[in-house]
Amino acid sequence: MAVDTEKLNAFLGRFVGDLGAAVHAGMVVIGDRLGLYRALATGPLSSAELARKTGTDERYVREWLSSQAAGGYVTYDAAAGNFSLSEEQAFALAMEDSPAYVPGAFELALGSLQAVPRITEAFRSGAGMGWHEHDPQVFHGCEKFFRPGYAANLVSSWIPALNGVREKLEHGASVADAGCGQGASTVLMAQAFPKSRFVGFDYHQASIDAARASAQRHGVADRVRFEVARSKDFPGGGYDLVTMFDCLHDMGDPKGAAQHVRRSLAADGTWMIVEPFAHDELEANLNPVGRVYYSFSTLLCTPCSRSQEVGLCLGAQAGEKRMREVVTSAGFTRFRRATETPFNLVYEARP
Ligand SMILES: C[S@@+](CC[C@H](N)C(=O)[O-])C[C@H]1O[C@@H](n2cnc3c(N)ncnc32)[C@H](O)[C@@H]1O
Repeated sequence: MAVDTEKLNAFLGRFVGDLGAAVHAGMVVIGDRLGLYRALATGPLSSAELARKTGTDERYVREWLSSQAAGGYVTYDAAAGNFSLSEEQAFALAMEDSPAYVPGAFELALGSLQAVPRITEAFRSGAGMGWHEHDPQVFHGCEKFFRPGYAANLVSSWIPALNGVREKLEHGASVADAGCGQGASTVLMAQAFPKSRFVGFDYHQASIDAARASAQRHGVADRVRFEVARSKDFPGGGYDLVTMFDCLHDMGDPKGAAQHVRRSLAADGTWMIVEPFAHDELEANLNPVGRVYYSFSTLLCTPCSRSQEVGLCLGAQAGEKRMREVVTSAGFTRFRRATETPFNLVYEARP
């Protein structure tokens, strides 16, 4: 073997960063659950002060703080012997309403990793694993991770990017949010457009229960309901808008779902499809965002699709070309990329 030491060291440097990041996921979830970040956001604290403030054990807290400072998630002042959050760290770690709030992503990661034994076996057998079979942290973490992005973009830029949809919603429209999960997108739309009526569908009972509770909590239960239904047979018709957020690629039969949406829409209705950002070619997705999506897709999206009829397995990095094929093969005559963010593509499909 002719190992180039410089290249090996560069690779090992990368490995140390990745190993730290892997265990760091657990650290972030602990800090979020115990309110450690939120307490630190109020001002510099020693480990003893943080422990006192949060009702936790000082020795554990000191070790956690050290891991956080080493990882750049917390700022350490050696002279003063205390820890704090910069404005940016607080924005991303302590403010649940900020568009950059990240702890949900780590909860989603930890929950997804619980499936590693089963997915390892699935590599051999080719079996699927349904969304509903995952650790509950997946459902909760997914909502917590996606909601800030939806709150920042959905009403202010994604809906306005669709032809005539905002006006319809303002006057009073009928909307179905299919594959709604715990209903983050449905509730946000209902808050913004009080004259419209919304129904969220998902095949997962526990997510629908959480969505109903969320609608109550947010005071929009008068205009939103949630029902257990699959994307190929959800009830109702004449919808002005059907939405699918980050779920079309999870479905076993996205073309069958597209045909059902086509039948459920009003003649001049719109189907908004929000998907993970992706390019059409693999080589263009070989970057940090692609790595995140391909990894989640291996644990969650691909097995979910495989567990359902047809099992098309589009994957989370399907890209616009494949989405266009699926959508237009179901009879939609118009399909376009309406807008995008670094994490999402937003498509508009019309009959
Ligand atoms: C990644 S989650 C996204 C949830 C939600 N739309 C959001 O953005 O927070 C994918 C969702 O699709 C749902 N799902 C998967 N296959 C489905 C199907 N065939 N019919 C209805 N829902 C489905 C899952 O239960 C899960 O809630």
